[in-house]
Amino acid sequence: MNTAPVDDLAILRCPHCGGGLEAVAGGASCAAGHHHDRARQGYLGLRVAARGMGAPAAGDTAEMVDARDRFQGAGHHDAVAAAVRDAAVSAALAPGAAGAADSWVVDLAGGPGWHLGHVLDALPGMRGLLLDASAVAVRRALRSHPRIAAATADLRSRIPVGDDAAALVLKVFAPGPPAEIVRVLAPGGALVAAIPEPEHHRELVQGLKLLKVPAVKADELVAALPALTEEARVTVRETVTVDRAAAADAVFMGPNAFHQKREAVEAALAAGPERRELTVAVTVVTLRRPG
Ligand SMILES: C[S@@+](CC[C@H](N)C(=O)[O-])C[C@H]1O[C@@H](n2cnc3c(N)ncnc32)[C@H](O)[C@@H]1O
Ligand SMILES: [Zn+2]
Repeated sequence: MNTAPVDDLAILRCPHCGGGLEAVAGGASCAAGHHHDRARQGYLGLRVAARGMGAPAAGDTAEMVDARDRFQGAGHHDAVAAAVRDAAVSAALAPGAAGAADSWVVDLAGGPGWHLGHVLDALPGMRGLLLDASAVAVRRALRSHPRIAAATADLRSRIPVGDDAAALVLKVFAPGPPAEIVRVLAPGGALVAAIPEPEHHRELVQGLKLLKVPAVKADELVAALPALTEEARVTVRETVTVDRAAAADAVFMGPNAFHQKREAVEAALAAGPERRELTVAVTVVTLRRPG
C-alpha cells in the first residue's frame, strides 16, 4: 500500500496554464489561481477539457480496468512488459542518458500501472509519475507500487508536467501529443513507446467482428517526432493460449468495451473452443532527445 506519496508537485504543472503548483488546503494551486483537488486516495485531479475537444476524456471504466488487470496478471502480455522494461533500462543506463538518482519516469495513459511497476522494479533509483484520464486506473496505479505518484489528466493536447522534467517517458498503447512529449523530456531523456502491429490480437478482431482501431504505426510515430533520434526498435511476436474468460478480457480491456456487451461477446466465444491461440505483435521503439 502506498502510504507516503511521492512528491508529485515537483513535476506536475497546472493543466490550464502550465504554471507550477503549490500545496493548498484540499489540493494544489498555480500562481494564476487555478485550483486542483486532491482526492482522499492522494492523487491530484488534473483532468480538464483539452482545448477545442469538448468534455474531458473519461478514460477506461472500472470494468475495463478490471479486465486489463486480470489479463495482464495472467501473464499473456509478459513478453510485452519485458520488452518495455528492457528498452527502458537500456535507455536509462545508456552513456549520457538523463537518468540520475530520483529522476522521473512519466507513464502516459499508464492504466493501472502494470508496465510502470515493471520498469521501476528494474530501475530502483527512479520515481514514476502515471497520468491517465481514468480515476479508477489512477487509484489502482497508486496502490500498485511505492514509487508511483499519479494524477488524472486528459492527454489529448497537454501533458501537465514541467519542461525537461522526465528522464524517461513511457507510451504503451497510449495517446500522447508529440510536441508535448519532446517538451517534457529532459535533454538526454528517452521515449519508450509500444505500438500494436496490425496482426495484434487478430483472432479476436476477425472471429468476433470487432472494431479495428486504426493504430499509429511505429514509423508514423518516429516521423511525428523529428526532434528525437531513434535508438532501438524491437518487435515482440508470439502466440499465447487464452481461455474464454481471458479472450473476453482481451476484448473488454480496450475500446471495444464501449461498443460491445460482455454477454454477447461471451456467447460468441462460447460457440468456439474453450482455449484459443492469440497473436501478440507489438513494436517497442526507443527515441532519444539529444543531450
Ligand atoms: C489501452 S489502455 C493502456 C494502458 C496502459 N498503458 C497499459 O498498456 O497497460 C489506454 C489507457 O488510456 C487511457 N486514456 C484514454 N484516453 C485518454 C486521454 N485522452 N487522456 C489520458 N488517458 C486516456 C485509458 O483510461 C486507458 O487507461
Ligand atoms: Zn494555472
